[in-house]
Amino acid sequence: MTAPAIRTAPVPVLEILGLRREVLRPGLPRQAAVFPEDGDPAAFHIASYEGDAPEVLGCGTFFPEPFPGPLPEPLSGPPADSAATAYRFRGMASAPAARGRGHGAAVLRAGTAEAAARGAALLWCNGRTPARGFYERQGFRAHGEEFVIEGVGPHLVFFREVRPRTRRTGDVAGRP
Ligand SMILES: CC(C)(COP(=O)(O)OP(=O)(O)OC[C@H]1O[C@@H](n2cnc3c(N)ncnc32)[C@H](O)[C@@H]1OP(=O)(O)O)[C@@H](O)C(=O)NCCC(=O)NCCS
Repeated sequence: MTAPAIRTAPVPVLEILGLRREVLRPGLPRQAAVFPEDGDPAAFHIASYEGDAPEVLGCGTFFPEPFPGPLPEPLSGPPADSAATAYRFRGMASAPAARGRGHGAAVLRAGTAEAAARGAALLWCNGRTPARGFYERQGFRAHGEEFVIEGVGPHLVFFREVRPRTRRTGDVAGRP
């Protein structure tokens, strides 16, 4: 039997809070899964599903935020050196039972395409060090020194260039 197709969609934050909490803030109150950036009107949230099932199996949240510190090469030169062209993402998660089925990659692809359509030239995150292989597989590079986020563990900044482009029909679910 073939696996059901993964589909992604931009959704209100309420749709993804359950999965975000289960994976990234287990055992903590629901409020602990709410990020300050969720209130940013420029933020968008991507959910992934399988076939017609309503269950959210992957999620991520994307919003404009300058890259922390000097831009890495080759982004340090014009025309991509504007802070306005950087998008950050956080809250990347896939349901434990659905790992390795492409949800994380699908969410990142859809978020990258949407950020590009909004003019992003760079996408970055504070990523958990154990997820390094995942980010590198998606074309990200680690930047700078490892740092520890209290209560969560070791992290690295990951980034990748994005080609800003004009929005086309189907961008949110399409490939960057
Ligand atoms: C990291 C995470 C989002 C990956 O999601 P996923 O749905 O399992 O990822 P995918 O199935 O889309 O994997 C895409 C590719 O990355 C690889 N990959 C996934 N996780 C990996 C890891 N931790 N290390 C190395 N490679 C990894 C997969 O094997 C796959 O490779 P392929 O393209 O050769 O098939 C998921 O494991 C997760 O939610 N982890 C816990 C929370 C977390 O660490 N989130 C990131 C916080 S910064």
